[in-house]
Amino acid sequence: MEYRKEIDIMECELVYPPKEDTFLLLGCLTLRPGKKVLEMGCGTGLISCHIAAAGGVLTAADINPWAVECTRKNLQRNRLQGEVVESDLFANVGGSFDLLVFNPPYLAAEDEGILEKAWAGGATGLDVLAPFLEGVEEHLLPEGRILLLLSSEMEPKGLEALLSGFSHRRLGARRYFFEELWVEELQMP
Ligand SMILES: C[S@@+](CC[C@H](N)C(=O)[O-])C[C@H]1O[C@@H](n2cnc3c(N)ncnc32)[C@H](O)[C@@H]1O
Repeated sequence: MEYRKEIDIMECELVYPPKEDTFLLLGCLTLRPGKKVLEMGCGTGLISCHIAAAGGVLTAADINPWAVECTRKNLQRNRLQGEVVESDLFANVGGSFDLLVFNPPYLAAEDEGILEKAWAGGATGLDVLAPFLEGVEEHLLPEGRILLLLSSEMEPKGLEALLSGFSHRRLGARRYFFEELWVEELQMP
């Protein structure tokens, strides 16, 4: 999906602002109107706003209440529709979706505050991705897809083990200094 300049995104205090990873994930996103989409960890809502603008039936979720408010405001200021919930992964998310999108926290760090939750993925970088992937089956419609932003900063063997439960393919990649970021599309086997 192409970045739409006409979508006006306000950045918010204590919320992860759109960065290279956000735009790489957005660029690999394809969607047919009417499809049910969950963006997990919506941050400012830039990706969520694009999903809604493309005709996706949007649910957005974030553990950070400031991100929930920020995404709601950005949907409103762009006159877009979507449900936004405060949720630790799927805890407060009901229903099933055609597409799950997640740019998860992945750096080897512990979260010490609400903003750090945007990037801190524990010692292996997989502390949030692993339970997310455990929960996906219950929330995927038949033929449903998962789109993930992944990083070479994640512990490779652990990541490989997590992905081995799915059929998966790489959609796009980019190198930023010493780090490689890529987007992986997953489906239930
Ligand atoms: C790297 S940021 C991505 C933000 C936005 N989607 C983007 O691409 O710009 C990761 C987001 O996941 C959220 N997050 C972290 N842990 C979470 C959890 N357990 N449940 C839901 N959201 C979580 C963070 O608060 C943050 O907004």
